[in-house]
Amino acid sequence: ALRATFAPKAVKENQNRNHILQPQASYKVALLGAAGGIGQPLALLIKMSPLVSDLHLYDIANVKGVAADISHCNTPSKVADFTGAAELANCLKGVDVVVIPAGVPRKPGMTRDDLFNINAGIVRDLVSAVADNCPGAFIHIISNPVNSTVPIAAEILKQKGVYDPKKLFGVSTLDVVRANTFVAQRKNLRLIDVDVPVVGGHAGITILPLLSKTKPSASFTDEEIEELTVRIQNAGTEVVEAKAGAGSATLSMAYAAARFVESSLRALDGDADVYECSYVQSDLTDLPFFASRVKIGRKGVEAFIPTDLQGLSEYEQKALEALKPELKASIEKGVAFAQKQT
Ligand code: NAD
Ligand code: LMR
Repeated sequence: ALRATFAPKAVKENQNRNHILQPQASYKVALLGAAGGIGQPLALLIKMSPLVSDLHLYDIANVKGVAADISHCNTPSKVADFTGAAELANCLKGVDVVVIPAGVPRKPGMTRDDLFNINAGIVRDLVSAVADNCPGAFIHIISNPVNSTVPIAAEILKQKGVYDPKKLFGVSTLDVVRANTFVAQRKNLRLIDVDVPVVGGHAGITILPLLSKTKPSASFTDEEIEELTVRIQNAGTEVVEAKAGAGSATLSMAYAAARFVESSLRALDGDADVYECSYVQSDLTDLPFFASRVKIGRKGVEAFIPTDLQGLSEYEQKALEALKPELKASIEKGVAFAQKQT
């Protein structure tokens, strides 16, 4: 059921075939920050996945009740709760995928970078524990500012001698989910068919939807391009303002993160047709980290799609050049923070 919900139609048909041909698999997933606004609905959505055998829920507080609640759902995975740093190692041992939405969210008037001072340390400590306890796991970083927290995670893993760039993912799926929704609405397309790649990073102008690469192909006026691009770039802020101090996107984020988890599990399970946009170490541009469509396989990122950055419209080409200085600075800030820790 989850596959039917998350996958575009063309991909879904293949998945259904694969599903029939392959035995049911069992993967262990750990969710760090599981009692939070994203953590709770995300835990529920992961509990619905038939590919998960064990779901480990970790937080610094309030996770027992979440785990007790979710564990009553009659889906296959076994739920276990872990509270506080002393229980983190046990939470992580033997895990295949670690999802990290731990950290503080924005309030109106803040940028994602304003969260750096608190969230950088949280991601550093959690990734350090991942390096010690499940160094081969796929790591999904949701905590903001993603443009910096992913480079922090990479540096920490390097310091521990276990960095595998193919397995470290910044979760930018929400940008794709939003782009698909807004484009389908604007162009009156069937939502299930629409796929818009979003590249760059995950903050403000670093979020670059490639409307010229929309599938099925659609034509946009200059006004539509400007309006849709700006809306997709500011969609996080749209939610922050609507919540008026009560946090940022949690439900759509949980939906997007669950899609990315499900894609990762399908890739681990041998599905050869898994493509997602993600913010990863990358050679596609002169920046060391960049979000783009990647093919995910059993060992993580298997391939980039260089043609995604070819044949861009003039608007996109300009926006790509314009985002580079900000993204570069965010990456360097993350790297400098992590290197100061040694
Ligand atoms: P929240 O405050 O509701 O929940 C965060 C949870 O993290 C809390 O339960 C808290 O106890 C926990 N936490 C704090 N420190 C921790 C630690 N050291 N170890 C484990 N858990 C810890 O916030 P939220 O709305 O769930 O957002 C979480 C993060 O996700 C924020 O940084 C937010 O900006 C980010 N976010 C990212 C995206 C994206 O697209 N990547 C989208 C939405 C939100
Ligand atoms: C989002 O895009 O919704 C998240 O990055 C949260 C935020 O602060 O906007």
